[in-house]
Amino acid sequence: MDALGDFLPQFGIHTDFVKHINDLAEVESKIGPDTRAIFAETVANPSTEILDIEPLSQLAHEHGIALIVDNTAPTPYLLRPIEFGADIVVHSTTKGITGHGNAIGGAVIDSGHLDWVNGRFPPIHHTAAGHQR
Ligand SMILES: Cc1ncc(COP(=O)(O)O)c(C=O)c1O
Repeated sequence: MDALGDFLPQFGIHTDFVKHINDLAEVESKIGPDTRAIFAETVANPSTEILDIEPLSQLAHEHGIALIVDNTAPTPYLLRPIEFGADIVVHSTTKGITGHGNAIGGAVIDSGHLDWVNGRFPPIHHTAAGHQR
């Protein structure tokens, strides 16, 4: 079972896949009114394809959606994706970040830069509005 293809659809979260993540025209062709985010690996496992983060970030932000990147392979020691425009960075800490693979873990880092109340993220918008009252 994989997370995007099998697990998340049970909760109403569906993913359109692309062949080449750095092909901006292909990625943009999948963005619709209900799209919330682009998800990509900074260095893909196992293909090792390297993500060009800045142009993908610009595309995401033109559409008001988040760029979420999995930075597990390079770790923050080698690459800090927020500096190139990523909104959320996730890591499997099971791998290089802990150096030994003897404990299962993960990390999610929010850049704090995305406008979550731009209308694309209603549940977050409503929660944020609730906190402002
Ligand atoms: C890039 C990347 N992210 C996440 C994972 C999932 O890691 P975990 O085993 O901690 O669930 C993997 C597993 O191979 C991976 O290669």
